[in-house]
Amino acid sequence: MPHILLCYASHDGQTRRIAQRLARGIAAAGGAATLANLDERQPDEKEIAATDAVAVAAAIRYGHPLPAARALLARHRDALAAKPLAMISVNLTARKPGKRTAEGSPYLRKWIRRSRLSPDLAEAVAGMLDYPRYGWFDRMMIQLIMRITGGPTDPSLTVEFTDWDQVDALAAKIAALATPDGG
Ligand SMILES: Cc1cc2nc3c(=O)[nH]c(=O)nc-3n(C[C@H](O)[C@H](O)[C@H](O)COP(=O)(O)O)c2cc1C
Repeated sequence: MPHILLCYASHDGQTRRIAQRLARGIAAAGGAATLANLDERQPDEKEIAATDAVAVAAAIRYGHPLPAARALLARHRDALAAKPLAMISVNLTARKPGKRTAEGSPYLRKWIRRSRLSPDLAEAVAGMLDYPRYGWFDRMMIQLIMRITGGPTDPSLTVEFTDWDQVDALAAKIAALATPDGG
């Protein structure tokens, strides 16, 4: 059974939910996933070497993937370069289908370039907009981003933009990464 190390960095919980759904999808595709919350633990070289593929999912805040995900890629670049690798960016602009590929998503493109890795799979997934949760500064900034990109600005709104069908399809692609010969 192919084994996937599924690492994630989440601030408000949506990337964690996406990672958990990916783990279930990988299991449904005949693989096994070990989840690693990067804020709690950073996998070491040995754990990376022992897995068939690695997926790293990171929430975007103010244009950048969360630091714990950047740290993992920087610390273990050589070990990760030797494995099938998926990079998943969770952000709000990915609510538009054209912004879910490296070509369409500047966040994803920049993250790949800065990590100096060549992921076999890279996708952006839409996250959650949760105005009531944000402090005034974050709320203002997200409203500004939404105004620029034509999204909702009503500060009472909570909207889950995540396309769970995309996440399920992504899980199958990650499972296939770990079994390039089909098992
Ligand atoms: C302070 C803050 C900054 C954010 N900055 C961006 C951004 O620059 N671009 C974007 O598309 N989404 C941005 N988002 C949206 C998050 O990426 C989205 O809410 C995501 O679901 C967060 O994942 P998490 O719940 O795992 O932390 C931001 C959200 C917050 C709260």
